[in-house]
Amino acid sequence: MGETFISIDNLFKVFTSKAEDLAVLRGASFQIEKGEIVCLLGTSGSGKTTTLNLLAGLDKPTSGKISYGGEDISKWDTTDLYDYRLKEIGFIFQDFHLMEHLTALENVMVPILLMKKEEEEAKEKALELLNKVGLGTKALNHPEELSSGEKQRVCVARAVANSPSILIADEPTGTLDSKTGDVIMNLLLDLSKKNKMTMIYTTHDPYLARIATRLLIIQKGVVSETEITNIEEIDYDSIIFEYKLERDVK
Ligand SMILES: Nc1ncnc2c1ncn2[C@@H]1O[C@H](COP(=O)(O)OP(=O)(O)OP(=O)(O)O)[C@@H](O)[C@H]1O
Ligand SMILES: [Mg+2]
Repeated sequence: MGETFISIDNLFKVFTSKAEDLAVLRGASFQIEKGEIVCLLGTSGSGKTTTLNLLAGLDKPTSGKISYGGEDISKWDTTDLYDYRLKEIGFIFQDFHLMEHLTALENVMVPILLMKKEEEEAKEKALELLNKVGLGTKALNHPEELSSGEKQRVCVARAVANSPSILIADEPTGTLDSKTGDVIMNLLLDLSKKNKMTMIYTTHDPYLARIATRLLIIQKGVVSETEITNIEEIDYDSIIFEYKLERDVK
């Protein structure tokens, strides 16, 4: 048994609006060990992004506990959460969240500069990462001059810039062709191996789901476990109905 790194206990998240309350998470519980590669599966609207946002401290649960290294992050104040996000978390957003007024290079430099590194060092590191994601030639472009897949790759470079201990990726290859998607996933897997980086990602692609060491399925507000060895038994039709498994497992 490895060490429990992240622990989610009886998590509830209810979005309240004038029209109605929506209980997206209804008692979700799961644990993640250091270095695990976890894929969170579920239909559109099942609460995957909601769960990832809570794990990253970007949102607060209605009730329940989110422990990181034994501490409940949902009780932390803004300063603690800022530190946690900057130093421990790398987040690849489903909708990128790039700063439009900054170039690709500057977007990747931001988290490095926030760690109080020198500008030259930040520039060098950011460029190295952009090269790794195949975007070296677009370093000086602004997000509006980039395709969706290119923006996603800037987002990947920015997420790993500070060598996070947890990489949270919300459909990290959602806008990429399969070849570019594989390059990105391999880069993330390499980092996971080298730095013992824990990875939690969502995907609608069964092929990418197979890369994980563990699969979690979110349905009706609760999260259940499926061992990767049982993947053939997963009823993908009920979870990922719009995709067909086309690629062979490597
Ligand atoms: N801020 C919010 N206010 C109200 N409802 C919200 C909010 N954020 C999400 N929801 C609702 O919560 C549900 C879960 O949303 P979430 O984004 O977590 O789904 P998802 O599993 O990531 O879906 P997808 O696969 O389409 O990305 C949806 O019904 C959504 O409309
Ligand atoms: Mg989502």
